[in-house]
Amino acid sequence: MSEQQPYEPKIVAFLCKWCSSAGSDLAGVSRIQYPANATPITVPCTGAVSPMYILSAFNKGADGVLVSGCHIGDCHYLEGNYLARRKMYLIMKLLDFIGVEHDRFRMSWVSAAEGAKFAQVVTDFVNDLQPLGPQDKLKRAESK
Ligand code: FES
Repeated sequence: MSEQQPYEPKIVAFLCKWCSSAGSDLAGVSRIQYPANATPITVPCTGAVSPMYILSAFNKGADGVLVSGCHIGDCHYLEGNYLARRKMYLIMKLLDFIGVEHDRFRMSWVSAAEGAKFAQVVTDFVNDLQPLGPQDKLKRAESK
């Protein structure tokens, strides 16, 4: 009899190239251990992440979506992360409206020097997604 494997959520991570993407690279080169559940997609700025990207990720089977960028005040485009923060608040409301738990979405601020923080963000997100199980509500809604 084989032991049951723990549920491994699939995460799509939109990472600002100036900060969080470099932070994830630092976690890698520093050999910090963290779950390999996140598929990174590098974006120029969190302000460039359209809510449609997030819905599309859920629609294509993501169990969680992470958007991570420069700390507030450090955006290379000055106000991109302020814009992102406002959009992401609306995304959480939209997810609630369509029946997808808003806890499946997370936003974080991780600089290029914070490899350990990036690893912790992903670890915490995986731990928080596991009790929710697979996300299939958005896919089901699309197929009706
Ligand atoms: S450049 Fe990193 S969030 Fe805008």
